[in-house]
Amino acid sequence: RAKQAASLVEIMQRAAQFYRQQLKQTPLAIDYLKKRGLTGEIAARFGLGYAPTGWQNLEVMFDHYADPALVEAGLVIINDAGQRYDRFRDRIMFPIVGQRGDVIGFGGRVLDAGEPKYLNSPETPLFQKGNELYGLFQARRAIRDAGRVIVVEGYMDVVALAQHGVEYAVATLGTATTATQVQKLLRHTDEIVFCFDGDAAGRRAAWRAMENSLAILNDGSHIGFLFLAPEHDPDSYIRAFGKDAFETLLTGEVVPLSVYLFKELATHHDLGNSEGRSAFLQAARPLLSQVRAPALALMLRKRCAELASLQLFELDNLWEIKS
Ligand code: UTP
Ligand code: MN
Ligand code: MN
Ligand code: MN
Ligand code: MN
Repeated sequence: RAKQAASLVEIMQRAAQFYRQQLKQTPLAIDYLKKRGLTGEIAARFGLGYAPTGWQNLEVMFDHYADPALVEAGLVIINDAGQRYDRFRDRIMFPIVGQRGDVIGFGGRVLDAGEPKYLNSPETPLFQKGNELYGLFQARRAIRDAGRVIVVEGYMDVVALAQHGVEYAVATLGTATTATQVQKLLRHTDEIVFCFDGDAAGRRAAWRAMENSLAILNDGSHIGFLFLAPEHDPDSYIRAFGKDAFETLLTGEVVPLSVYLFKELATHHDLGNSEGRSAFLQAARPLLSQVRAPALALMLRKRCAELASLQLFELDNLWEIKS
């Protein structure tokens, strides 16, 4: 097992190196990154690369193209006719780096309007999407210095923020933020700001991130949400308005998790009548019951009781919470 894992690491590293070389030789791909406002320095820091067009480019890099480890690494696919071909073709490549600094997966973006826009490595022995955060390895020091981490949706968001000097951002990998990811981040800092796209999908992602954070929160963790205008994501925002404007939002506009939670529930339930308040309590209970941080749990119940026009002891009786 250990031996196999080591060779997968080596394969991924060599593939990343190949994609980096290809980027240097492909003006079209370089132009794409330039058009998106990235310098060569940032591209190098994130190890960005390019997977060329054609079906079997990795063959020149790996003399045993038939090595099943290439398939296991998620780089090569075998079709129904038994032919092997490269998973990533004609895409900008974003290597995903694990906590030891090794490349464990890739995200690849099309240069045009092709579908899917991003193709990611499959789950492999090295790479479990729900456990990883894009950019965490590169951001570790900046997260410590800033005392916080920003969680965004996309590869380009992380890279663009870094390009503009906001180096403490990481991205979930096209899935809902998991408890494991939050747990991992709280080992680096006690302050997490989720800043997803301003569109409906980004708002849904924020709610899921909130739900999946509840059981992980400690007293003393600060989890907050920064909501961008519907037309923006962090990349487009910082390109349009710059670092200072973004950091001003971070100073003034972050909504604490506790505020966000009740604000959302209160928009879905009419607190002006008993039916609405009881439905509100029904919705709040499964959320609040997950919170294990004792002081925060108490505070949330207190706020919940206020909003439902109850005393705290009445809510605790209702929910059979012993004090
Ligand atoms: P977005 O659609 O918001 O893309 O998806 P983006 O990051 O803003 O990309 P640009 O600016 O158009 O280049 C956010 C994230 O969701 C995942 C990727 O991780 C992407 O960065 N995603 C998106 C996929 O995995 N596959 C897709 O087809 C699209
Ligand atoms: Mn702090
Ligand atoms: Mn989006
Ligand atoms: Mn986006
Ligand atoms: Mn974008």
